[in-house]
Amino acid sequence: MVAVRNVISDLEGSYALAVLWSGAPDALVVARKQAPLIIGLGEGEFICASDTPAIVNFTKIILPLEDEEIALLTPLGIEIYDFNNERQYRNPISLQIADQVSYKKNFKHYMLKEIYDQPDIAKYWLEKYLIKNLETDQFQINYSFDTEFFNSIERIEIVACGTSKHAAMVGKFLLEQFSGIPTNVFYASEFRYSPPPLLPNTLTIGVTQSGETADTIAAISMEIKRRSSIEDTNYKPNLIAITNRIESSIGRLIPNVINISAGIEIGVAATKTFFAQLLSFYGLAIKFSQIKGSQSNENINQLISELTKLPALVEELLEKHNESSEKLAHDFFNIKDVIFLGRGINYPIALEGALKLKEISYIHAAGYPAGEMKHGPIALLDKKVPVISIATPGEVFDKVISNAQEAKARDAYLIGVAPQCNGTEIFDYLMTIPSTNEWISPLLTIIPLQLLSYHIAAHRGLDVDQPRNLAKSVTVE
Ligand code: AGP
Repeated sequence: MVAVRNVISDLEGSYALAVLWSGAPDALVVARKQAPLIIGLGEGEFICASDTPAIVNFTKIILPLEDEEIALLTPLGIEIYDFNNERQYRNPISLQIADQVSYKKNFKHYMLKEIYDQPDIAKYWLEKYLIKNLETDQFQINYSFDTEFFNSIERIEIVACGTSKHAAMVGKFLLEQFSGIPTNVFYASEFRYSPPPLLPNTLTIGVTQSGETADTIAAISMEIKRRSSIEDTNYKPNLIAITNRIESSIGRLIPNVINISAGIEIGVAATKTFFAQLLSFYGLAIKFSQIKGSQSNENINQLISELTKLPALVEELLEKHNESSEKLAHDFFNIKDVIFLGRGINYPIALEGALKLKEISYIHAAGYPAGEMKHGPIALLDKKVPVISIATPGEVFDKVISNAQEAKARDAYLIGVAPQCNGTEIFDYLMTIPSTNEWISPLLTIIPLQLLSYHIAAHRGLDVDQPRNLAKSVTVE
């Protein structure tokens, strides 16, 4: 332990270390700085890892090391010290994870299994978070923390990366257009070095399924620090974490956690956690609308009633599209570029569709707000570049269809993610979705896109669950 302590005092940068010495074969010394390290307490064994999925099949009792801590593990137990050599005392915690979640069932890949978990996630979300108040007969969103501070919130800033940022962008749409709260979404990696000027009465939301993404944690920590240094209480940090890991670094940093409760996700490409993050934003939008009175009860009830149909709708989509997207994948597995278009609440879904495809199939894909095509990207189009347009009935439906027409005029093969309705005959191939209220459409339009990406990558014979160059938790800057 002394030797490890001496060495780490000379180390620079981030690390999570586990050190063995042949002179004491029963002991292990672990230390961390700006990288996660958890100790699992098994039966007669300790297990160290950077992330809970690695140990969840061995134990559900864990003791996460906090930043800049060192621990000695021996058959007698665990001794934890901070980097100033002060002994630290705390109890292990139990992971709240259902037993079955880390098994592949009969699916070929975890990713496909996780896509199929989504109806259950919707069911669970409805049971856990949507509670009927029997006195008022109104539904309420059951978040476990005190939401009193919501009253004073005038604006929201959200920091996230990758897929979580796309969920946050749908969240922004809901929070602004449904709940009337000005909201900005930032790449966490940008926010941490060029944050916006501080404004009062701001809610900061960190979205991260793993709860360990270094940029997101750093952005939130920076925001806490700069807000805490101001005396005016209007500038105090108001924080929420949206995560799948309440025991993670973000769960320990922020007291108000929305647990997306998606169960462990093994596939590196986020699918069910994206879906569950979206649901959390629906919950927040409903909550804010009720608190601020920004939507009538009728509109809120209508949204809630649409959400209650989700488990059946998602199941129907899986049934309808699994085989057909496998067939479509046969025709498309050799393409080089794909363009995804969406508008309004489905613009982030175009971005997410493109991200899913590129990260697991290594095919270049880009998502655009459909109206932007004519400002440059349209130059890319010819018959070798398929265009996938998300067109859901609502305010921008006609616009998306006319943007698709512009692509068709350049010989692009058009795939629509849309209901069977007037206007959609323009598509060469239609991935049909049920005709529902536009507000909930992202929860549906994402399903065929996840399936298509999965089947293209699987058809190319790629390692779908562990794509090259990617990690499930990005714990480095
Ligand atoms: C998702 O498919 C990606 N692997 C990646 O973009 C991911 O969403 C990003 O790294 C953020 O991860 P987080 O949600 O754990 O913070």
